[in-house]
Amino acid sequence: MTTTSWIPVALSADIEAGTSAGTLVNGEERVVWRDDKGAVHVWEDRCPHRGMRMSFGFVRGDHIACLYHGWRYDTGGQCRYIPAHPDLEVPQTIKVPTFAATERAGIIWMAPEGTDMADLSGLSETAEPVRSLLLDLSANAALLAVTAAPPEGYRPVSSAPDTVTLQGNDVTVFIVAQPRDAGRTALHITVTGDTSAATRRALVLWATDLRNRLEAQAMEAA
Ligand code: FES
Repeated sequence: MTTTSWIPVALSADIEAGTSAGTLVNGEERVVWRDDKGAVHVWEDRCPHRGMRMSFGFVRGDHIACLYHGWRYDTGGQCRYIPAHPDLEVPQTIKVPTFAATERAGIIWMAPEGTDMADLSGLSETAEPVRSLLLDLSANAALLAVTAAPPEGYRPVSSAPDTVTLQGNDVTVFIVAQPRDAGRTALHITVTGDTSAATRRALVLWATDLRNRLEAQAMEAA
């Protein structure tokens, strides 16, 4: 399958309620955060006041507050409170640019606002996390490396420019590529079916070994 405009930005399990994290998508800084009700949000990682990264800020309930001067933004990206001017009705123009955000297959996805959710309908609703893997490769090269050396007992059953699915005994592994910046990719890996701790541990070891071998190859070639 292809996931069209939706881009993976993190494993769901890595962004707990009340936390935020910064990431890169095609070289652009993004903040991924989860409010106290469990909803995920993906925004530009830049406060409209003086440009501080929002990912350095604090999630408080359904707001995120900038670390620098404490301006507070609601889930729509709208600034609602400026501590230095507590009585000010904050102008509507003070707003962080936002993206559509959702979760499927144990992964947080972002897309331009208004993107059709149906594009992700082929994915499982939930999945268990394995790990994310940061590689000094393009997305295509990273996924080719996966299909060239899958874990023992698994075989690729589908691949697309942005995803690979591996099938093992009662286990389906979903791997999707996040293009971070030129030549760097994050692979997010989740599993459905037999999601026992032993299965996931074996997959973590395979993924870590894959990264180590790719890094060793890159060192040799340099
Ligand atoms: S830079 Fe964010 S509140 Fe000032």
